Amino acid sequence: MENSTDSTEHNKVICDCTGTTEGKVKQLIADGVDSLDVIADKTGATTGCGSCDILIEELLDT
Ligand code: FES
Repeated sequence: MENSTDSTEHNKVICDCTGTTEGKVKQLIADGVDSLDVIADKTGATTGCGSCDILIEELLDT
């Protein structure tokens, strides 16, 4: 198992259903996306089981 936080953080999958990574969501936020709906639209994240909602909202909050 790899355990180097910096790069793995970025590539960490936060939505298992769609394979959406934390880096991808952060990129969208950096591009000006500020709502969960738009992120869901662009990545499909939250459209499966929905358990990643909270993780994405946390990213939007930071
Ligand atoms: S983990 Fe994101 S929809 Fe299931």
